[in-house]
Amino acid sequence: MTIVNAKEMLLKATAEKYAVGAFNVSNFIQMKAIVQAAIEKNSPVIIQTSVTPSKFRQPDVVAAVFKTLAAEAPVPVCLHVDHCNEVDYCKTCADVGYTNVMIDASHHEFAENIRQTRIVSDYCHTRGISVEGELGTVSGVEDQVVVAEDEAQLCDPDLAVEFVEKTQIDLLAPAIGTAHGVYKTKAPKLDFDRLATIAQKINGSGPTTPLVIHGGTGLADDTVKKLVSLGGSKFNVSTELKHCLLDTTYEYLSVNRNVYDPGKLDLAVLEAIAGVIKKWMDLLGCTGKA
Ligand code: 13P
Repeated sequence: MTIVNAKEMLLKATAEKYAVGAFNVSNFIQMKAIVQAAIEKNSPVIIQTSVTPSKFRQPDVVAAVFKTLAAEAPVPVCLHVDHCNEVDYCKTCADVGYTNVMIDASHHEFAENIRQTRIVSDYCHTRGISVEGELGTVSGVEDQVVVAEDEAQLCDPDLAVEFVEKTQIDLLAPAIGTAHGVYKTKAPKLDFDRLATIAQKINGSGPTTPLVIHGGTGLADDTVKKLVSLGGSKFNVSTELKHCLLDTTYEYLSVNRNVYDPGKLDLAVLEAIAGVIKKWMDLLGCTGKA
C-alpha cells in the first residue's frame, strides 16, 4: 500500500529539487494509465480530479478506484481534488479518501481566502490529509475557475508568507504568470524572479511548504526545468491530457470505424496517456524517485 498525502511526497521533491507531476483526469482509464506510467518510471505521482468530473464520477467511486490502483503500485500515489472553491466539497473529498485537497478561495479578498482555507486545513489535518491553497489568480479556464487574462493577479511574496502562516496550508500555489489551457504565445511572460523570491522566503531555511506550478500544458521544456530549479515541486498538467484523450479517440475511431470492440479503444487511449505521463516524468526529474 503506497497511498500518501502530497506533503510527504513533495517535501522530498523540494529538498532534492525535482517536481512530481500532478495530472488531471476525467475518467478511470486515465487513472490506470497514470499509475502504470508511474510504476514503469519508478516515480511518485499525483492523480487529480477537478470538481466537475469528481462529482460526475462520484468522489467515493473515484477514491475507491484510486485505492485499488494504488494498493497494487509499488510507488507513492496521491489523490488530489483540484481548484475546489466549495469548502463543503473539500470536506467531502477528505471524508471519502482523497489524500490532498486544494481549496481555491483565491478569487476572494485576502482575509476571506485565509478564512476559508484555514477551515479546510483544520478539517483535513485531523484526518492526515494535506491541503493546497492559492494566492494570486491563475488566468485561463480550469473547470469552474475562470479568470480573464487582464484580471489575473500575481502572488505577493510577503503576503505569501502571511498566507502560509495563517492558513497552515501544506502546499502553496503562487500565481507567477502561468495560465490554464493553451498558451496564446510560445513564450508566455512568467515571473521567474517572483517564484525565486517566494521560494526563498518560504523554503529558504529548509523545505516546509512545497510550491505548486499550475498551467503546465504548452510550456517549453527549458521553462519547465527552470521553474523546477527555482522551487516548483508539484507541476499540474490538465489540458494536454484532455487533448490526448480526445485526439486519440477521434484518430482511433476514424481508422477503425467498423471495429465494435470498446476494449481496443480503451487500450489505445491508455497507451497514449501513459506515453504523455512518462515524458512529463522524465522532464520533471521524478523518474526513479519513488
Ligand atoms: P493546464 O490545463 O494548462 O495543463 O493546467 C493544469 C492545472 O494547472 C490544473 O490545476
